[in-house]
Amino acid sequence: MYSIPCTILAIESSCDDTSAAIIKDGKMLSNIVATQEIHRKYGGVVPELASRAHQQNIVPVVLAALEKANIGKNDLNAVAYTQGPGLLGSLLVGCSFAKSLSLALSIPLIAIDHMQAHVLAHFIEDPKPEFPFLCLTVSGGHTQIVLVESAFKMQVIGRTIDDAVGEAFDKSAKMLNLPYPGGPLVDKLAQEGNYKAYKFSKTHMEGLNFSFSGIKTSILYFLKEKTAIEPNFIEKNLPDICASIQYALINMLTEKLIKAVEQTGIRQIAIAGGVSANSGLRARMKDLSEEKGLEVFIPKLEYCTDNAGMIAMAAHFKFQNGIFEDLNSSPNPRLNTFC
Ligand code: KG4
Ligand code: ZN
Repeated sequence: MYSIPCTILAIESSCDDTSAAIIKDGKMLSNIVATQEIHRKYGGVVPELASRAHQQNIVPVVLAALEKANIGKNDLNAVAYTQGPGLLGSLLVGCSFAKSLSLALSIPLIAIDHMQAHVLAHFIEDPKPEFPFLCLTVSGGHTQIVLVESAFKMQVIGRTIDDAVGEAFDKSAKMLNLPYPGGPLVDKLAQEGNYKAYKFSKTHMEGLNFSFSGIKTSILYFLKEKTAIEPNFIEKNLPDICASIQYALINMLTEKLIKAVEQTGIRQIAIAGGVSANSGLRARMKDLSEEKGLEVFIPKLEYCTDNAGMIAMAAHFKFQNGIFEDLNSSPNPRLNTFC
């Protein structure tokens, strides 16, 4: 297919990562991420502090992305930003910066849905899936099974009715006295533990939807009971507890994904979002490919957690289709453009 030459600067500022990327003719030239460390001491993202940190980080991050890509700002053909979903104060920083640059350089503005961008991260590098495919999109705020029919036509066929799986990881980590963000730490500790050590009960959900509140309560009561008998139970058994929690959460995800394969007949499956960085989930997906003969797509780690590279990829698709925004464009914390 003919594609229009284009160099795009993309900005991601939906939560606590300030990121900028440059994509030229569909090829990623840079993807810079500044992770805000300030939230660690509060045990979670503090929205007010996040937007302030974005303000401080945005200029150096954009300059670093241009420098790494060896691109001058006058070479840009468009600027893209994350419109939502996310924290309003954080989104406003990226939006205002992108609008100013669009105005100053007289280049088009492109607005991107963060969740669609997580899915489209699969088109940054080979091997790329073909449409249609199923994408398990798992992050701190979302748990969805998405039927991806095209770059813009995506249908959520399964979703969580309560917590997101990333939240389940982070809240479990908190119960284990691990610092925020707990997901990556649970993953690390789980690698040295026995996943068969403990079992947790979970809420049974019909269809393709998920529920993580039951297992969260089950973990809480399990830990309460054990520490009442043995106060240092957590410290003594941390890797086994993490491995067991991780195993249970991954099973809940993959069970529904397999069900979605059976229901739709689609045999290309992908994972996206922060939790797709989880080593257990990545390994389980590879096993599924062998056990069930499915074609599995797993993004490179740098494109799993929040990054502007995925925003740039989504913006490339929009540019090629002539989909631009006017300068009245504004962030939408609850944006949901899935059909
Ligand atoms: O996509 P993301 O970076 O931000 C949102 O859009 O929410 O996802 C962040 C979530 C957090 O809950 C974090 O704990 C989780 O992804 N996460 C992980 C891992 N890396 C990030 N969870 C489990 N294992 C990991 N390795
Ligand atoms: Zn995300």
